[in-house]
Amino acid sequence: MTLLRDGELAHAFDNASRTYDLLTRLNPGYRTDLLRSARRLRLPDEGAGLHLLDLGCGTGSSTRALLRAAPRARITAVDASAGMLARARAKAWPDRVSFLHLPAEEVAAHHGPFDAVFAAYLFRNVTDPDKVLAAVKGLLRPGGRLAVHEYSLSGAARHRAVWTAVCRGFVVPAGTLGGDRALYHHLWRSVLAFDQAPAFADRIERAGFSGVRIAPVAGWQTGIVHTFLARNGSTGAASPEVAR
Ligand SMILES: C[S@@+](CC[C@H](N)C(=O)[O-])C[C@H]1O[C@@H](n2cnc3c(N)ncnc32)[C@H](O)[C@@H]1O
Repeated sequence: MTLLRDGELAHAFDNASRTYDLLTRLNPGYRTDLLRSARRLRLPDEGAGLHLLDLGCGTGSSTRALLRAAPRARITAVDASAGMLARARAKAWPDRVSFLHLPAEEVAAHHGPFDAVFAAYLFRNVTDPDKVLAAVKGLLRPGGRLAVHEYSLSGAARHRAVWTAVCRGFVVPAGTLGGDRALYHHLWRSVLAFDQAPAFADRIERAGFSGVRIAPVAGWQTGIVHTFLARNGSTGAASPEVAR
């Protein structure tokens, strides 16, 4: 199966935006895990004076997690899908949160610089993850922090089997009921095709980040979803909490 990319993917997310929040609410731990990953950025002083980027913000669940982790920060949230972004914008936000309709690849230096970047469920979807990592590095201040929250399998056969069972038994049928079979089939296959966790950590390191760490999430997604933590250069950041 060919994975969805770029305009085709944005269009699929436009359609799926109607049911996205409902489906993610049915996923135990979806919001708690996002919050845990955002907190792993360990932003000081509730984020006061910091400018944060939520890349691939969707309907705003990751933006909400970032805001809870750093309630005094300024947050710019970006997404390529107008439909997902419209759902995010319709929610209540403080003035410090703003939204941009842009592909991750087109976020420009003048939108930043950023003290931290959070990217939840984005990298598996982009055509060229190396290009996006290079762009993120260019947008971060020296010492700035990166947290990627992503479906990236551990490499153990049982985790791959759980993922396929959950997709066949629930994710694809539920997505099909909502009229979005292609997107939820893409979700299943894109996870199988994406870097396993150690390979993605190596990719982050090759992009020039330092202190790269992998942290697990709890519950059924253990070994399936991970937080990847890194810094832009070696200055100005506290150590992330879990060693690789
Ligand atoms: C699975 S959703 C996750 C949304 C949100 N981060 C969350 O945690 O709920 C992935 C989002 O990434 C966006 N996306 C995919 N590729 C993108 C790209 N190249 N640039 C910007 N957004 C992209 C999609 O439009 C979609 O809203």
